[in-house]
Amino acid sequence: MGVKTIRDFTLEGKRVFVRVDFNVPQDKKTQAITDDTRIRASLPTINYALERNARLILASHLGRPKGMVAREFSLFPVAERLRDLIKRDVIFPDDCIGDGVKKLAKEMEPGQVMLLENLRFHPQEEANDPGFAQKLAGLCEVYINDAFGTAHRAHASTAGMAAYVKDKGVGLLMEKEIQYLGKLLENPDRPYLAILGGAKVSDKIGVIQNLLPKVDEILVCGAMAYTFLLGRGLSVGKSLVEPDKAKAAAEILSRAESRGVKIFLPVDHIVAKAVEPNAETKVVSSEKIPFDLMGLDIGPKTIELYKKEIGLAKTIFWNGPAGVFETPPFDKGTLELAKAVAEAKAMTIVGGGDSVSAVNQAGVADKITHISTGGGASLEFLEGIKLPGIAALES
Ligand code: 3PG
Repeated sequence: MGVKTIRDFTLEGKRVFVRVDFNVPQDKKTQAITDDTRIRASLPTINYALERNARLILASHLGRPKGMVAREFSLFPVAERLRDLIKRDVIFPDDCIGDGVKKLAKEMEPGQVMLLENLRFHPQEEANDPGFAQKLAGLCEVYINDAFGTAHRAHASTAGMAAYVKDKGVGLLMEKEIQYLGKLLENPDRPYLAILGGAKVSDKIGVIQNLLPKVDEILVCGAMAYTFLLGRGLSVGKSLVEPDKAKAAAEILSRAESRGVKIFLPVDHIVAKAVEPNAETKVVSSEKIPFDLMGLDIGPKTIELYKKEIGLAKTIFWNGPAGVFETPPFDKGTLELAKAVAEAKAMTIVGGGDSVSAVNQAGVADKITHISTGGGASLEFLEGIKLPGIAALES
């Protein structure tokens, strides 16, 4: 991997700063955590450090508070959940830098845990400001980056501060993510199938281009399928599209064809007037999407077609839902794909918040080989981009 791991350091009594990704989904009104997968995924590293009596300082961002202090982006609910999970007290200061935090870090006993307040309350975090990075680095003797979900961001806590700490490496989660996602880049078992969904084709163009030389098949779903259909010259009614990307989508289809990579587009759709729970729906073929309706999920024929391909694959990567799955009845396609991926006799990797929620919702998370905590990070990794959070740790 070219970087050290937490196992390479003596942690006993040391102040160990672990950058975690506790950017968890929350209820908009109450801020209650709706999915704690990312917190649980950090537990192996947290427990590893605590078993070795480290003085553990955890830091994360939450949401996008744009460099300002905002109560709804406080990590307080996360500190509470963490307390329950690790069954220890968690010191929770009201900032991530400053004299108060320095004093608390200094006075910590071995085996104590402190979770700093949201790093993004300071604009210097996202600006990768060296002064801010130095202040964070000043809190610790060992720096561990376990925040795979944020490894594609070159921020002060994910990249900048590494320059100021001699002992640095990845945590156990980051190591596992690199190992599993690395398998998709090196010699995956074939057929290798990628399922790509979600709203925007613009988010996925890079990854599709990078995957074309590697995969055997791509199943396209979600709203981004409509930009592909538009690129094929079909009319897509009121479906969500990126008209300026239709040409790029058409080019991808012809490049795939010349490489012998099969790209499947949905053949039928669940259409409705609007995204409303229990809306009146119709099933239509791709050639017959009515001008006044929008496609909100893949239809039954597409589900069967995609399930068949999933059943034949030996390696599967899935990112992005098949429809507006948070609003039934538009959840069926995504949940059916989740079940099919879980049943496949293949190495299966699922990444991206929505697809991870879908496998949880379908109750099949334990049947997936690896659930990545990275959405954007896993896509950039598969694009072959060197992630700044990993690059900063290379010696
Ligand atoms: C994520 O959820 O993808 C990561 O936590 C990164 O968050 P960001 O997109 O706000 O940088």
